[in-house]
Amino acid sequence: MDIKNKDLFRQQSFINGEWVDAINSKTINVNNPATQEIIGNVPNCGKDETISAIRSAKNSWKDWSSKTSKERSNILKKWFNLIEENQEDLARIMTIEQGKPITESRGEITYGASFVEWFAEEGKRVYGDTIPDVFQDRRILVIKQPVGVVAAITPWNFPSSMITRKCAPALAVGCPVVIKPASQTPFSALALGVLAEKAGFPKGTINIITGSAKEIGEELSTNPIVRKLSFTGSTEVGKILLRQCSSTVKKVSMELGGHAPFIAFEDADIDEAVEGAFLSKFRNTGQTCVCSNRLFIHEKIHDEFVEKFTIKVRNMKVGNGLEEGVISGPLIDQFSFRKVEEHVHDAVNVGAKIAIGGKKHKLGGTFYEPTVLFNVTNKARITYEETFGPVAPIYKFNNEDEVINMANDSPYGLASYFYSRDIGKIWRVAEALEYGMVGVNTGIMSKAEAPFGGIKESGLGREGSKYGLDDFLEVKYINIAGI
Ligand code: SIN
Repeated sequence: MDIKNKDLFRQQSFINGEWVDAINSKTINVNNPATQEIIGNVPNCGKDETISAIRSAKNSWKDWSSKTSKERSNILKKWFNLIEENQEDLARIMTIEQGKPITESRGEITYGASFVEWFAEEGKRVYGDTIPDVFQDRRILVIKQPVGVVAAITPWNFPSSMITRKCAPALAVGCPVVIKPASQTPFSALALGVLAEKAGFPKGTINIITGSAKEIGEELSTNPIVRKLSFTGSTEVGKILLRQCSSTVKKVSMELGGHAPFIAFEDADIDEAVEGAFLSKFRNTGQTCVCSNRLFIHEKIHDEFVEKFTIKVRNMKVGNGLEEGVISGPLIDQFSFRKVEEHVHDAVNVGAKIAIGGKKHKLGGTFYEPTVLFNVTNKARITYEETFGPVAPIYKFNNEDEVINMANDSPYGLASYFYSRDIGKIWRVAEALEYGMVGVNTGIMSKAEAPFGGIKESGLGREGSKYGLDDFLEVKYINIAGI
């Protein structure tokens, strides 16, 4: 691994403040999706190691939760500074294991660190309430307390920031965490563990366990010591975890799939809409839950939009994310590649036209050409299923009601975007879109200060912002009599 701080590249799990192998010494190889080379391996842990990680979190709970919020904040701030100082190495690790362009990886490290900084401060503002009682000699108090041991199961598409988005609020309010990173991208998580250890988190407050998603996920979602599970990943896996969590009635947060509509109305600034659609569609090679997946363009501006958007896509550099200037990298694996291929074939078979792309990239492997489809109809699978790749399907519409119906015709409800300069329309459409997040005249809206999350089958709970603390807190009502 070509990084300055070699210590950041760890190939062991982190349990109870120790770097450990799997009990049976088995490992999982991790490869670079751009070159298919094996870059290292991590322990293939299972149920037993998960139980010891959960126990170590539990043992640290009393000490960690009884620290003052300022004491916890100071340690979080050290972690934040260390992440910032090591940004370049962390970004390189991410690009090598995940494939995303290095500029995006740098951006993700900054984005991830911003959750640590934000929650280091926000954790000090866990306020309660006093409520007038119906009896004169009584008082009602409401306090908020940390929920207990938190399990965080995180995805490969944002291998660093999804960890900090979950763990920073949990840790800030006093909850110890057990993290299960995706098997494709464990090194970003382990590097964060190295820096957390250096920042001075007491042993057991942060545990990172690599290995079998099924076994570890099953233990984390059924073990009664775990009081809260936070998951980012597919709706399919989210439903399994939800079922498993029901056996011990855990608190859950689920950040699941999305199928974001992007609407450009006839009064939109076309150049800005093209830019917004481009950023939101091709971020992380189309592999984000908030990527624009259905582009609805008003018939009056449709042709101009398609032409300008296609020119932008044509100018994109595709390649190994380590090369400067690359904007589109490889897909994470063959499974993802095949899904993209199938979606494009299917759309074309039912009438879509290819403006650009539409096939495997000449670089081979899991590289797919950035693709723009137009004339797409609701017969195509791409209209209803999340593609998770660099494919932009464009639909034509001619009125507001029609496009809102099209946009809302999905089981998903995560992000949505639209471009308009008409203030009345902006209010109407923002309120009518059945999505947890609405970007108006912007294609990028994720930030630590704002509540990220979805409705319908896109999830439960919110991450980031003041709302992101609630998911790690329990409300306790205290009634004092005899005053
Ligand atoms: C995701 O796709 O899961 C997260 C994207 C973001 O935080 O913007």
